[in-house]
Amino acid sequence: MSLLRVESVSKHFGSLIAVNDVSMTVEHGELRAIIGPNGAGKTTFFNLITGFLTPTYGHITFDGQDITHLLPARRVQLGMARTFQVTEVFPELSVRENLRIPVEVASGLRLRAWLSKADDSRIRDRVSELLDMGGLADKAERQVGELSHGDQRATEIMMALALKPRMLLLDEPTAGMGDQETYEITQLIRRLHKNAKLTIVLIEHDMRVVFHLADRIMVLDQGKFLAEGTPPEIAANKTVQTAYLGQAA
Ligand SMILES: Nc1ncnc2c1ncn2[C@@H]1O[C@H](COP(=O)(O)OP(=O)(O)OP(=O)(O)O)[C@@H](O)[C@H]1O
Ligand SMILES: [Mg+2]
Repeated sequence: MSLLRVESVSKHFGSLIAVNDVSMTVEHGELRAIIGPNGAGKTTFFNLITGFLTPTYGHITFDGQDITHLLPARRVQLGMARTFQVTEVFPELSVRENLRIPVEVASGLRLRAWLSKADDSRIRDRVSELLDMGGLADKAERQVGELSHGDQRATEIMMALALKPRMLLLDEPTAGMGDQETYEITQLIRRLHKNAKLTIVLIEHDMRVVFHLADRIMVLDQGKFLAEGTPPEIAANKTVQTAYLGQAA
C-alpha cells in the first residue's frame, strides 16, 4: 500500500483555482520532489496534504486512512511533519530549547509541571541525538535567531523530525541560501532519507538539489499537473523544458 495517495484534489480561492485536479502517489521510503514556477500551487498542494487547507474537491489517504478532513495536529499524530517556506523556529530560544519542545510533545510530556528524572533524562538524550543527527551539536546553546539561515533551517527540520514522522514534507528547504548552506541542507536531507529511511516530499526551486535528491519529480504549472518522472525523464521532457526548466535556465 502506498503511504500517501492524493486523488484529484482541487483548491479554489474564489474564482482562482490554485490547485486543479492534481493526483499524486508516494510510496514508503520514496523521496519525491515537487517543482513548478512561482504561483504554480505547490505550497497550496502541501497545505492540502498537511491539513492547513481543506480541498474543494478530491480525497487524500495516508497509510490507507482517509485524512481529507482531519486537522493538522491529527495528521502529525498519524506520522506527518512539515517545515514551512519561511522558517518557523523560536528565534529567542537556543537550538536545544527549540528541539526540546517537539521532543516533549512526541513523548506526551509537554507542559507537565513535574518530570521524573527518568523522563527528563530520556528527553535530554533524544534532544542530543537530534542535535548530532542535524549537525547542530556545537551550536546547541546558541540562540537560533543568531544562527545562519542554513542552521535555522536545520533546526526547523530536526524539530519536525522530533515528532517521529513517517513522512516529512519540506517546503523549499534551501530557499534564500548560498551554495555552502544549500549543500549542507541537501546532505542533511539525504542522510535523513537514507539513514532514517524517511519518506520525504519536498518543494524545491534549486534544480541541483532536486536532481541530486529526488527519486521522482512531479511538475505543477498554473495549478495543474504537468508531468511526473525520474530526474532524467523530467530533464528530457519537452513540455517541462518549455514551461519551466527552459525559463529557469
Ligand atoms: N490563501 C490564499 N488565498 C487566495 N489565494 C491564494 C492563497 N494561497 C495561495 N493563493 C494563490 O494561489 C496560487 C498558488 O499559490 P502557491 O503559494 O500555492 O504557489 P507556489 O507554487 O507555492 O509558489 P511559490 O513558488 O512562489 O512559493 C497563487 O496565485 C496564490 O496567489
Ligand atoms: Mg510556495
